[in-house]
Amino acid sequence: MTGIRVLTGDRPTGPLHIGHYFGSLRNRVRLQGQGADLFVVIADYQVLTDRDVAENLQEYVEELLLDYLAVGIDPAASTIFTHSHVASLNQLLLPLLSLVSVAELRRNPTVKDEIAASRQARVSGLMFTYPVHQAADILFCGADVVPVGQDQLPHLELTRLLARRFNERYGQLFTEPEALLGEAPALLGVDGRKMSKSRKNAIALGAGEDETANLIRRAKTDAERVITYEPERRPEVSSLVLLAALCQDRRPEDVAEEVGDGGAGRLKAVVTEALNEHLRPIRARRAELARDRGELRRILCAGNEKANAVADRTLGAVRDRMGMVYS
Ligand code: TRP
Repeated sequence: MTGIRVLTGDRPTGPLHIGHYFGSLRNRVRLQGQGADLFVVIADYQVLTDRDVAENLQEYVEELLLDYLAVGIDPAASTIFTHSHVASLNQLLLPLLSLVSVAELRRNPTVKDEIAASRQARVSGLMFTYPVHQAADILFCGADVVPVGQDQLPHLELTRLLARRFNERYGQLFTEPEALLGEAPALLGVDGRKMSKSRKNAIALGAGEDETANLIRRAKTDAERVITYEPERRPEVSSLVLLAALCQDRRPEDVAEEVGDGGAGRLKAVVTEALNEHLRPIRARRAELARDRGELRRILCAGNEKANAVADRTLGAVRDRMGMVYS
């Protein structure tokens, strides 16, 4: 991974939860540890795709940054930045938009799903064009690899298409990035539905130990006494078993067998203990970092500065290829 540039990111819409942690944050830290040059975008402009106003941005950006730092993303080795403070990245949107048709933008299956799920009365232009903006996130820094979930694959395909079209029209410049599909573990929320910030069924990375215990105590299970790991037939119980297994780096089958006829009560005690223990150092670090807001701001400023230098260079090369050279 040495010399490989990796870009990924999140929308600052609230603190991250254990689904994000086991699904993607851990993987980012692993890539960083293997020598990848990691870029992480805090996608503040992208918050506006499915809502009129991005609320509590200052707070959410700080929370996200705290989550990143607490799990081990190292600002000395990696670059954490926000969309809104990297002007040249945003300007790349214009040439990239010229390379895609409205029909192609309308066909994006993830955008279609998000429009269906949105509570907004009207669909904004940003909803249709943010995948192109996301392509700018990826292309400005010449990312080779983009770790993403399944739902982001159409955006990756679009990014590759835009890179190809730019290169064909104006000469070779952009690398076509590869998607790195993480095997996101099937962790359900405590109500048995998909874990999500907005459903209030998630366990936040920074939650306290008592809060974590209470959430797990409330978690949905089923009427069968003996605990087994059968994700298809017993999704709620299996999700809890899997969570303990991920924390302890064991096979879920072994965790289930050990709990056995201890039932749901015993299972919940095991999961609570395993999760709180696994997250203890991360949460301690998070709490410590949270005490120095000035330092957080300095870290973000430094990340934005690095991203700006890279984006300015890329935009310069783009203008060059496009004949926008006036001096
Ligand atoms: N769309 C991503 C999400 O909702 C966040 C994101 C923004 C992103 N820019 C990106 C992910 C670039 C990967 C690469 O999770």
